[in-house]
Amino acid sequence: MTNPIAIEFVEPQLDTLGAEEERVVVVFAGSDGKLDIAARKVNSLTRKALSRLVESDRFEGMKSGEVAEIAYPFGMETESVLVVKLERNASATAARKAGGAIARSLGCKGALVLGASLKNVADVAYGMALRTYAYEDQKTGEKTAPANVRVAVKDVNAASEAFAPMAGVADGVFFTRDLVNAPANILTTTTFAEKLQELSALGVEVEVLEEDKLHELGMRTLLAVGQGSASPSKVVVMKWNGGGDEAPFALVGKGVVFDTGGISLKPAAGMEDMTMDMGGAGVVSGVMKAIATRGAKANVVGLVGLVENMPGSNATRPGDVVASMKGDTVEIINTDAEGRLVLADVMWYAQERFQPTAMINLATLTGAIIIALGSENAGVFSNNDELAGDFLAAAKVEDEGAWRMPLGDGYDALLKSNIADMKNVGGREGGSITAAQFLQRFVKPETPWIHLDIAGVASKKADGPLHPKGATGWGVRALDRLIRDRFEA
Ligand code: BES
Ligand code: MN
Ligand code: ZN
Repeated sequence: MTNPIAIEFVEPQLDTLGAEEERVVVVFAGSDGKLDIAARKVNSLTRKALSRLVESDRFEGMKSGEVAEIAYPFGMETESVLVVKLERNASATAARKAGGAIARSLGCKGALVLGASLKNVADVAYGMALRTYAYEDQKTGEKTAPANVRVAVKDVNAASEAFAPMAGVADGVFFTRDLVNAPANILTTTTFAEKLQELSALGVEVEVLEEDKLHELGMRTLLAVGQGSASPSKVVVMKWNGGGDEAPFALVGKGVVFDTGGISLKPAAGMEDMTMDMGGAGVVSGVMKAIATRGAKANVVGLVGLVENMPGSNATRPGDVVASMKGDTVEIINTDAEGRLVLADVMWYAQERFQPTAMINLATLTGAIIIALGSENAGVFSNNDELAGDFLAAAKVEDEGAWRMPLGDGYDALLKSNIADMKNVGGREGGSITAAQFLQRFVKPETPWIHLDIAGVASKKADGPLHPKGATGWGVRALDRLIRDRFEA
């Protein structure tokens, strides 16, 4: 379990500056090069090292949020002064990115951040918290323990109050990243369900549906995916009741703890990446943790289908026909198109049991969405323009890439089967769209719904402004924001 760094907001104490306990002092300067009172103090201690920097071509060429280091400054006991180019009234997004850049240069050194002149100083702290993540559960030896960070602000109460919900969301993001980064022999369907049960300590009601119950409910398309594995399939239902007694908002996640492809076996190269195929379930779990930690005034249910797609002797064969919980039969042409089989049953169950006011499902569903959108945007498929618009707006505020994709009868027609009600693949063309069409067959027309295909964004090969390489936690912030805007505004 990876915990975000501890951040403490303090009053600025400029008279003792220069003899800090932290190894690094961070100051800010806007593009006009004007120094605030804290930076002026550092400037005088260092015999105008800062003035020389902000007047240089180097500083002029720096982008917003970029960091320059003055190492072993004369006149101070700190190892370095980081000078961050950031306007005083910089947006929350810019402030977070700057925080991410600070965290990246800091590594695990502690810092005193002199942010009293910034409008969105809590967001700088948030960016630092999000970027300082390392998955080290599988490493022996010394773990990097990032030292604490103190942030000097004008108003300690205001900054702490602004930061408290952000810290809750950061907890959720870290939970998602830990789950997504975990190898499949460690995060099995069973240990995943156990981890989710721990959320009950935060007031989330957690219920685990075991295989016998899933049989009873008729979730045969979900069970068809897991039956080739020694790990039992499970559905976990998480309920957060922070609102009144209105029907809940539903989140549904694909939790394939490992996707070999099944009998339609994947090629060896890169198969190890399929440990992240529970990314949708990971985000749902992270959102539940986030809203519980910050005490959201909303009713939200999170459901995840936990299965392992393995080619065991009992595995589903290509050509098998299976009935879904809804009743429709599916000809399983390709056992590697398994995510939609899992989601079909869990989505149907979510609607039957909760009559949610809206439903959003997340899944690392198709390689095709990566061909379409790369790793910059998740695919957004929806039957409801208003809900889709609200989500896209929330994603924009949180700077999480999301792009609307089409649906249509012509795509749906590609799922026609010769012997069953539908087949589980629609061919290579528009692969992410036919996958979404498959899901839509399990959405009641009256349910406002979004499908998020996060195959390209759940885990990345390169680091970004607010995450190291590996699991990103994409979507936790946007969904938390959506819930806030919808129910708590
Ligand atoms: N889990 C994969 C999709 C995926 C690919 C996620 C790459 C993350 C990175 C999914 O189960 C899958 O195998 N999809 C197939 C569907 C095809 C058989 C119709 C795909 O995309 O190739
Ligand atoms: Mn697959
Ligand atoms: Zn998969």
